[in-house]
Order: sequence, then structure tokens, then C-alpha cells
Amino acid sequence: MGICDSTMGLKSTLFVTALLLSGAVAAVKTQAYFNETAYLPCQFINSQNRSLDELVVFWQNQEKLVVYELYQGKEKYDNVDSKYKSRHISFDEENWTLQLHNVEIKDQGDYQCFIHHKSHKGLVPIHKMSSELSVIANFSQPEILEDSNTSSKSYRNLTCYSVQGYPHPEEMYFLLRTENSTTKYSPTMQKSQDNITELYKVSISWSYSGFHDPSNRSITCVLCVLGMCLFSKPYNIVPPKTHLPPKDNMLWIAAPSLVIVGVMVFFLAQWKRKKKQPDLSRERHESETIKMEGEESKNATHQQVPTLQHC
Ligand SMILES: *[C@@H]1O[C@H](CO)[C@@H](O)[C@H](O)[C@H]1NC(C)=O
Ligand SMILES: *[C@@H]1O[C@H](CO)[C@@H](O)[C@H](O)[C@H]1NC(C)=O
Ligand SMILES: *[C@@H]1O[C@H](CO)[C@@H](O)[C@H](O)[C@H]1NC(C)=O
Ligand SMILES: *[C@@H]1O[C@H](CO)[C@@H](O)[C@H](O)[C@H]1NC(C)=O
Ligand SMILES: *[C@@H]1O[C@H](CO)[C@@H](O)[C@H](O)[C@H]1NC(C)=O
Ligand SMILES: *[C@@H]1O[C@H](CO)[C@@H](O)[C@H](O)[C@H]1NC(C)=O
Ligand SMILES: *[C@@H]1O[C@H](CO)[C@@H](O)[C@H](O)[C@H]1NC(C)=O
Ligand SMILES: *[C@@H]1O[C@H](CO)[C@@H](O)[C@H](O)[C@H]1NC(C)=O
Ligand SMILES: *[C@@H]1O[C@H](CO)[C@@H](O)[C@H](O)[C@H]1NC(C)=O
Repeated sequence: MGICDSTMGLKSTLFVTALLLSGAVAAVKTQAYFNETAYLPCQFINSQNRSLDELVVFWQNQEKLVVYELYQGKEKYDNVDSKYKSRHISFDEENWTLQLHNVEIKDQGDYQCFIHHKSHKGLVPIHKMSSELSVIANFSQPEILEDSNTSSKSYRNLTCYSVQGYPHPEEMYFLLRTENSTTKYSPTMQKSQDNITELYKVSISWSYSGFHDPSNRSITCVLCVLGMCLFSKPYNIVPPKTHLPPKDNMLWIAAPSLVIVGVMVFFLAQWKRKKKQPDLSRERHESETIKMEGEESKNATHQQVPTLQHC
């Protein structure tokens, strides 16, 4: 029995050495979305059908801080670094995979999984594996906004924004499409990084002065991250209709003006009529004098003229 055990031990030690060497060369790359779950693999093939009761499984980060430890099948926190104690971390027995939940940008980096066999002889390393985690966050769809504060009429300030993304974008630009051409404009990208989440907010601004050109155009904003590009909704510029709007405006101004003039004339006429009535006594003299001047001056229009002169 003793001999058998020792040869088994030697075999597995050789096996582990080979694994350790290969593990050191190729770290498996894994990727996770921000605030979702990262899967840190161990890729342990349990060829000897070992029970978790006889194993010590743990993960370390690149600073050699213990992320998680499963000691003889039970979670153990003595060695786990304080920054991981408050995190939601679970071990998947089926896959020998560590699940790091609500992943943060800070979680990026290298991890190592260690499996030791615990026996009366002590802890014997039997498996080791390295993985490299990168975290990404999808930027929001870029959005073009027109700066309403642009007082000048000769240009408009267009700003394109995108938020909550990681890593830093490679490129951000405007595409101006006309009937016949597409032109690319790449203003300097403005970026800011949230000091807690480490996510980026990026923007570009363009003082566009072609709003009065007589052809249809559309502007699209493009943001490229990790070789993939996101497109904004097109910002369409329809040229002002030549000559038609002034005519329309004239009509809209003319119609109410006519009504107002009409109303004023009506009230003026009313006012004149009222004004005439108290003057009737005085008018008798006037009408007499007028009569003396000419016999046919009895109609209203002629009577009006002197009253107006009195005023
Ligand atoms: C992360 O996801 C949780 C829901 O799982 C949500 O409540 C929280 O606001 C998210 N945090 C961030 C920073 O997006
Ligand atoms: C592994 O061990 C369990 C008990 O520990 C046993 O039920 C199972 O059949 C074994 N599997 C193999 C492939 O030996
Ligand atoms: C094992 O991991 C893979 C991805 O790494 C996953 O799709 C699968 O559901 C996992 N299996 C179990 C039993 O959790
Ligand atoms: C991020 O974007 C990719 C590509 O568009 C998509 O497949 C993935 O589901 C997105 N993930 C999240 C968390 O939004
Ligand atoms: C608007 O523009 C004026 C000057 O043109 C500036 O003083 C003011 O701060 C601007 N307001 C905003 C909200 O940008
Ligand atoms: C355009 O707007 C952006 C954001 O409001 C501002 O940072 C930029 O200075 C503005 N540019 C011009 C030319 O007004
Ligand atoms: C586009 O091309 C057509 C014919 O090639 C031409 O008539 C038209 O003026 C062009 N439009 C612009 C905006 O240059
Ligand atoms: C984040 O930055 C702001 C200013 O940009 C600062 O006031 C705040 O204290 C910072 N928070 C942390 C946690 O560093
Ligand atoms: C410009 O666009 C408008 C509406 O999108 C369309 O009615 C008009 O025919 C277009 N003009 C030209 C010259 O393409």
C-alpha cells in the first residue's frame, strides 16, 4: 500500500509539474460585462475522482491576495482579503469555475486558481491555472444634441455624447452625408472618467455652419470601441424652402391685419356717430350757415365736415 501510494504521488507530481509549466505559458483570457458576472476558470480535470473533502481550492489575484478559498468543501474566509469579503463570489462545483458577481473595472487583471490535495502528508499542489480578466461596458448609443445656447445664426454647435462605457474608445467622429458625398469630421474627443465606476463619458463638438445650404444633408455620429462602431440616429438637415415661407408669412400677417383694420374702422365710425348726437343743437346753427352757403348741403357727409373742423 505504501509503495503504491508513493508511486501515485510521484506520478501526480510529474503531472502537476507539466501542468504548472504549461499553465504559466498560456493564461486563458476571459471577458465580462461591467456589473455582470465574471467566470474565472480553473479547468481542473478530476481524473482521480477526488472529493472536495480532500481538496483545498483557492483563487489569488495578481497581487497574491486571496479572492476565495474552499477548504475541504467549505468556504473559508481567514485568508480571504478584506476587499473580497464584501463581494458576492460563488464557486461552481460542476465547472470548477469561480463566479465573481457585479464585476467592476478594478477587477481586471490576472487570477490564479490553485488546487491542493490535503492528506496526512500535508498539502500537495495538484493543479494551477492562470486567467486574465478584462471587463467591458457597452457605451450608450451616441446621441447628437444641438446646443440651444448658440446665439449666432451663422452656425450651430452640435455635440455628440456617449456614456457609461469601457474601455476608452479608439475613435469618435461625425459623418456628413450629402446627396453625392460622405465626409468625415474628427474633432478632438473630450473624455471624463467616473472616479468610482471608472466608466468613460465621451463627447465631440462641431460648430456646423452649413445649415443654409440648399440641399438635404444628414449628420451621423460614430463611436468605435474594440473594433466595433456604434452609430447615432441621423441628424437630418432639410434646407429652408426657398421663397415659399416669405409668401406664407405675408398671408399670415396680412389676414389678421385686415381684420384689425376692419374692426378699427367700425369702431371709429361708431365713435363718430356717438360724437354727432350731443352736437345736434350746435349743428343746427352750422347747418343753417351751410344752408345759406348752398341749398343741397343737407346730406350727412357735408354735415360731418364742419364738426370735424370744430374738433
Ligand atoms: C448593477 O446592477 C444592479 C442590479 O443587479 C443595479 O441595481 C446597480 O444599479 C448596477 N450598478 C451599476 C453601477 O450599474
Ligand atoms: C466518483 O466518486 C463518487 C463517490 O465519491 C462515485 O459515486 C462516482 O461513481 C465516481 N465516479 C467515477 C467516474 O469514478
Ligand atoms: C459551465 O460554464 C459554462 C461557461 O463557462 C456555462 O455555460 C455552463 O452553464 C456552466 N455549467 C454549469 C453546470 O454551471
Ligand atoms: C454589449 O454589446 C454587444 C454587441 O452589441 C452585445 O452583444 C451585448 O449583449 C451587449 N451587452 C450588454 C451587457 O449590454
Ligand atoms: C450661453 O452663452 C453665453 C454667452 O454667449 C454664456 O455667458 C452662457 O454661460 C451660456 N449658457 C450656457 C448654459 O451655456
Ligand atoms: C459647443 O458645445 C459644447 C458643449 O456644450 C462646448 O463644450 C463647446 O465649447 C461648444 N463650442 C462652441 C464653439 O460653442
Ligand atoms: C449631385 O450630383 C448631381 C449629378 O451628378 C448634381 O446635379 C447635383 O447638383 C449634385 N448635388 C450636390 C449637392 O452637389
Ligand atoms: C470624485 O471626483 C470628484 C470631483 O471630480 C470629487 O469631488 C470626489 O470626492 C471624488 N470621489 C472619490 C471617491 O474620489
Ligand atoms: C429633402 O428631404 C425632404 C424630406 O426629407 C424631401 O421632401 C425633399 O424632396 C428632399 N430634397 C432633395 C433635393 O432631395
